[in-house]
Order: sequence, then structure tokens, then C-alpha cells
Amino acid sequence: MIRFDGISKRFPDGTLAVDDFTITIPSRTTTVFVGSSGSGKTTLLRMVNRMVDPTSGSIHIDDDDISTLEPVALRRRIGYVMQNSGLLPHRTVVDNVATVPLLTGVSKREARAAALDLMDTVGLDRALADRYPSQLSGGQQQRVGVARGLAIDPNILLMDEPFGAVDPLVRSELQQELVRIQKDLAKTIVFVTHDIDEAFLLGDQVVILKTGGRIAQVGTPAEILANPADEFVDTFIGAERGRRALSIQTVNGKEVVVDGTGRLAGILRSPTPESGRSA
Ligand SMILES: Nc1ncnc2c1ncn2[C@@H]1O[C@H](COP(=O)(O)OP(=O)(O)OP(=O)(O)O)[C@@H](O)[C@H]1O
Ligand SMILES: [Mg+2]
Repeated sequence: MIRFDGISKRFPDGTLAVDDFTITIPSRTTTVFVGSSGSGKTTLLRMVNRMVDPTSGSIHIDDDDISTLEPVALRRRIGYVMQNSGLLPHRTVVDNVATVPLLTGVSKREARAAALDLMDTVGLDRALADRYPSQLSGGQQQRVGVARGLAIDPNILLMDEPFGAVDPLVRSELQQELVRIQKDLAKTIVFVTHDIDEAFLLGDQVVILKTGGRIAQVGTPAEILANPADEFVDTFIGAERGRRALSIQTVNGKEVVVDGTGRLAGILRSPTPESGRSA
């Protein structure tokens, strides 16, 4: 569990990036911070591994007040996938993934073997292991970034717009991949995005932020879609909400489901015993 308690951050130049932010992030689930550019998402994320220290308030990881922990040691046990992948350009893929484990004293052979396993986990062909980041596609680079975040097998994984710089198709592939990985690994993931669609897809808990890290609404995607807290949230999720407003039409005696834009979303079947819950 990660607990932010009355957290504020004022940078030396006077910018109040985060103003009195309080939230609990449950373990082994995905919490998504979503908000427009400059709303304080990266600042909030970087406070968890003490790359930024708050001006006031406290952050606890389980029972530890992190201000009492040594920042470097803390960073080595929290996975961090940076905005724009953050790969080291002069190191090969496998060395990028193995960097932090090597710093923590794992042997070179072990680190390389573990890095190759992680390439499988994130869906990267092992044949790419000895290439440099510039020799990879954008989507492949982002996968390396995720493998790197997972390399120390952390309980907590911080992900800052990890799928920002790729085309929509690859982005959707990476999102599905993360859903699959999270199903297996059940990490405490804090994921940052400005894309509400991505937030609803990945988040067990979604936190919608206004400027200054002010919380507009916290809830499950279903809770937020069903009951937007105010006009700001309503506007923010607007397009998405319309698209998800499904309705039933009858075509040639069969019932089909169309979305808010009138596109076919699927056909309607009565639940079979095996399918259990309805979708
Ligand atoms: N080192 C800094 N010094 C001064 N102001 C900063 C610093 N870092 C961030 N800020 C300011 O704090 C606010 C929040 O920035 P932050 O990077 O957390 O936003 P963000 O939500 O991650 O934005 P984006 O979606 O563009 O990445 C912005 O107004 C930004 O200009
Ligand atoms: Mg940011």
C-alpha cells in the first residue's frame, strides 16, 4: 500500500505543482493518475521513489515513512518506467534491462539470463538483445523500458506515460500486454497518462487530476463513468462516455449492440452457463 497524506510540492521558482494531495493506493492493483499536461502527474510519481521530495505532507509505503528511507536504496527496490522510455543509448538492449540488477550486486551472467527472460515476458524477440535502442522501433523501445522497470522484480512499478510515443495500434498492443503481465505478476502499479481511454482500460482505481494535482474524482472506471463527480469530470470523460454508451438495435430479427457513435460493438447473446457472468 502507498499512502499520500496532505502532499504538496512547491518548486524553488514558486510553481505549486501539487497542492494537498491525499490518496491511498492499494497493493497488487493498478492505480492510474490521469490529467492534462502540467497537472502534476510526473511530480506525484517521482515523489514515491524520492526523485522529488515534497514540500509538506508524508508518503508511506506500508508502514514506512519514505522520508526516513535512503533515496538510492528506495529507488533500487521500485521499478520506474520513464516518460519517453529513458533508455541508455550507448548500451545494448540486454544491458539496459540488466543495469539496475548489476548495481545491486547480481552477477553479470545471472543478470543477463534474467534480462533475456524478461524480454520474453514483455514480448521482445531475444534476437534483439544485442542491438542498441536506436536500432529498435518505438514500440520495441517501450517494451525494453517496461522490461527494465521489472528487472529488479519490484513490488511497486511506477509507469510515466510509458506508451506515449507510439502509434495507436502499437499502443493498444502494449496496453493488452501490460494487462496480461499484470494478471500474472500482480504488482502495485502507479500508471500515469493523459489518455482517459487508457486510464479506464488499465486502472482498477482511476484518479482524475486537475491542475495542481487536485483530485477531481477517484473511483473504479465503472463508478466514474456511471457517476461523474462534476462538470470537469463529465467533460474530461465526455467523448469516452459517449462511445461507451451502448444501445441495442434489431437487424433482421437479431439484436446487435452499437456504441454511442453508431458503430457496431457486438452481437447480443443470452449468457450460457459456461460464460458465467455477463460481459
Ligand atoms: N523542476 C521544476 N521546477 C519548476 N516547475 C516544475 C518543475 N517540474 C515540474 N514543474 C511544474 O510543475 C507542474 C507539474 O508538472 P508535471 O511534470 O508534474 O506535470 P505532468 O502532469 O506530468 O505533465 P505532462 O503530462 O506534460 O508530463 C507544471 O506546471 C510544471 O511546469
Ligand atoms: Mg509528466
